[in-house]
Amino acid sequence: MTFQAPKGTFDWMPPRSEWALAVREGLSAPLRRAGYGYIETPTFEDTALFSRGVGESTDIVSKEMYTFESRGGQSLTLRPEGTAGVMRAVLEHGLQGGPLPVKLWYSGSYFRYERAQAGRYRHFSQVGAEAVGAEDPALDAELIVLAADGYAALGLRGVRLLINSLGCKECRPAYRAALQEFLRGLDLDEPTRRRVEINPLRVLDDKRPEVRAQLTGAPLVTDHLCGACKAYHEEVRGLLSAAGVAYADDPRLVRGLDYYTRTTFEFLHDGLGAQSAVGGGGRYDGLSEMIGGPALPSVGWALGVDRTVLAMEAEGLLGERPRHLDVFAVPLGEEARRRIFPLVSELRRAGLAVDMAFGGRGVKGAMKAADRSGARYAMILGDRDIEAGAVQVKDLTTADQTAVPLAEVVDVLKGKVS
Ligand code: HAM
Repeated sequence: MTFQAPKGTFDWMPPRSEWALAVREGLSAPLRRAGYGYIETPTFEDTALFSRGVGESTDIVSKEMYTFESRGGQSLTLRPEGTAGVMRAVLEHGLQGGPLPVKLWYSGSYFRYERAQAGRYRHFSQVGAEAVGAEDPALDAELIVLAADGYAALGLRGVRLLINSLGCKECRPAYRAALQEFLRGLDLDEPTRRRVEINPLRVLDDKRPEVRAQLTGAPLVTDHLCGACKAYHEEVRGLLSAAGVAYADDPRLVRGLDYYTRTTFEFLHDGLGAQSAVGGGGRYDGLSEMIGGPALPSVGWALGVDRTVLAMEAEGLLGERPRHLDVFAVPLGEEARRRIFPLVSELRRAGLAVDMAFGGRGVKGAMKAADRSGARYAMILGDRDIEAGAVQVKDLTTADQTAVPLAEVVDVLKGKVS
């Protein structure tokens, strides 16, 4: 019997896996330069952290969580997102008592039991950032600029930014009521009518054409913002423009998590089909209180690593990333293997990239492996070389071959490569 990766999951395999690493590195580098510290939290948390933090009425909590009972009888859930866990850790470690904002970044695996399709997986990977404990439009703008810079550094040109404000606990209730009143007058099926009562903003996000057609006259959140939210949003927009980051206003942008307040945003890429969001985030001023902490206004985002690689592929950016190898060692026989093995280790310790032929292949097979390896030099050792106290160094680009005394080969190769 053989096994396959579970539905909705896949393996990152070389050489493509190099791009997953490059994306994680490329998206996190701007954060590290901006003072964000690295945080790792557990892959599973108390189930209630997500039901209270992300929200009972969201698809994520109501349909998509991988929840299980531990042997000790506790309900645990594989994290569907990173923000709730980061906030839990900040509160648990009392960081809110120190200098604010606490700026953190993370990278890891997330789990949602979604309908699997291209770009939508049940196990996916994000790079995320959270700035906890400050209400300052410059912080919202900083995060958005850092995400845009990350995409740009990867060479992506087709990432679009949509922004919106969802208001605060002062102005959102009146908007919610106005929207509900509008939605109750529409011709909607039963599940959607129920959604109108529980989470009316999510109905604005309905993709079905028959629903979309009826939403044209829906009240817009941006027309219901209080003075403070309006001013805050204007300030964020102004800072983005000043930093040269292009955006489009989308008053219908709602996000799939309940904790958002004020600034929300999404990065889209048009080369991905239906799953066009490569990243998203926003302000979540109430999350800390929702999970039992003090008031801690915060903002953050998460960018999808898998979808970012797909976006790079759509833009033709996934060219060859040649494996960099300086030397490929070819031992011909057991004695040669014994002699060459310490040389390989020594060359590696000297900083060279070195591989060797394994599995006792003959000369032909081993030389083929050397050619395929992409190395600059082959270091070949046979019985006659051992007798002569030398090793053959072959330049694999020119095919020139010279005998070098065994005792000198490390220095000779170091000299050639540097
Ligand atoms: P999110 O919009 O649910 O936000 O996810 C962020 C990004 O993760 C998406 O834009 C997408 O690129 C990627 N993603 C999400 N689900 C999947 C999936 N099933 N397959 C592949 N990629 C996926 C959050 O997770 C929030 N925690 C972001 C945040 C941080 N807000 C404030 N701070």
